[in-house]
Amino acid sequence: MKKEKIILTGDRPTGKLHIGHYVGSLRRRVELQNSGLYDKIFVFEADGQALTDNIDNPEKVRQNVIEVALDYLSVGLDPNKSTIFIQSQIPELCELTFYYMDMVTVSRLQRNPTVKTEIQMRNFETSIPVGFFTYPISQAADITAFKATTVPVGEDQEPMIEQAREIVRRFNHIYGETLVEPDILLPDNAACLRLPGTDGKAKMSKSLGNCIYLSDSADEVEKKVKSMYTDPTHIKVTDPGRLEGNTVFTYLDAFCRPEHFGRYLTDYASLDELKAHYTRGGLGDMKVKKFLAAIMQEELEPIRNRRKEFEKDIPAVYAMLKQGCEVARAAAAQTLDEVRRAMKINYFDDDALIAEQAKRFSNE
Ligand code: TRP
Repeated sequence: MKKEKIILTGDRPTGKLHIGHYVGSLRRRVELQNSGLYDKIFVFEADGQALTDNIDNPEKVRQNVIEVALDYLSVGLDPNKSTIFIQSQIPELCELTFYYMDMVTVSRLQRNPTVKTEIQMRNFETSIPVGFFTYPISQAADITAFKATTVPVGEDQEPMIEQAREIVRRFNHIYGETLVEPDILLPDNAACLRLPGTDGKAKMSKSLGNCIYLSDSADEVEKKVKSMYTDPTHIKVTDPGRLEGNTVFTYLDAFCRPEHFGRYLTDYASLDELKAHYTRGGLGDMKVKKFLAAIMQEELEPIRNRRKEFEKDIPAVYAMLKQGCEVARAAAAQTLDEVRRAMKINYFDDDALIAEQAKRFSNE
C-alpha cells in the first residue's frame, strides 16, 4: 500500500489567533487543505497542552476553544475537508504519552530550546509543572496517533518535531515498524517564520499588546498599522530609511504581492522598488503604512466577514467540533491498537499467548 500523506497541526487555545498565526501557519494550512495533495488533514486545539501552564485558569482555555474554532472556520478551514478536533477529547493521546515517557530522558527534555525559553518567560525556573516540562512528549503522541507525515508549524516547533522523530525511531527499533516519522513543513517566506509584533518586538504576544487579531475590526487594524514601529532614525521624509527591524517592511514581506501595486500604489512596480526608494530617502512612513493597511484590509476583510457568519450559529460550531472529535478518536484508537500489539500488552486478544501459558503450566 502506498504510504498515505497525512497532515496534522494544532494550536493552544489560550487566546484568539492573530496574524502571526495566520502568515506563519493558518494561511498555508488552508492552501494545503485545498491542494488535493493530502489524504487526510487533522487540525486540533491543544487544550490539554494549554492547561500545562494554565491549570489554575481553566476558564481561559474553555473560552478560547470557541474563539479558535471560529478563527479556523473564518480563515477557510473546512470541516468537510479537514478533521477539526479538541485534544482533551481523545484519551488515547494520554495513553500513548504514558508509554512514550519511558523512551525520553529528563536530560533530553532539558535540552529542548523552545521549552527552555518558555520556562524562562513564565518564571518557572524553580517550579516547573511536570506536565509542562514533558509536553514535547505529549506532542509526539498528538503527531504519531494520527500517523502524520507532515506537520506544518512555525520554526519554534522544530524541536518538538525532532523529539517526535526520535521517539518514533526508538519505538520502531524496539518494537518493529509501527509508527510514522513526521516531517516538519516550515513557512516558505522568512518574514512569515516569526512575524514581529506591531511594536517591533520579537514576537506577537497578547501580554505585550502588540498583536493584530484575525477578529479585529477594520478600524482596529487601521489604527494598529498606522502606529506601527518603523525606523526611529527616519524622521524627515528626505532622510534615508532602514529596512532591517522595520516592522512595516517585514509585514510587507509577509503580505505584499505584485498585484497589490496596481491596486493601491501605482507609483511603484514592485516591493524592491518601494524598498529602494525608502532606503534612498524621500519616502515617508505614512505612505508605506497606508499601502500596508490597504493590503491587510483586503486580506482580513473576508476572514472577518466569514467569522461574523459563523458567530450566528455557535451551537453548530460545537456540533462540528464534536463530530471532528469522533472521527479523530477512531483514527487514534486504531493506532493505539497497533501500538499495544507491538508492545505486547494486548493480553486478551492474543489467543496464542493464552494457549502457550496454559501449556507451560499444565506440564509442570
Ligand atoms: N505546541 C504547539 C503550539 O504551541 C501546539 C501543538 C500541540 C502542536 N500539539 C501539536 C502543533 C502537534 C503541531 C503538532 O503552537
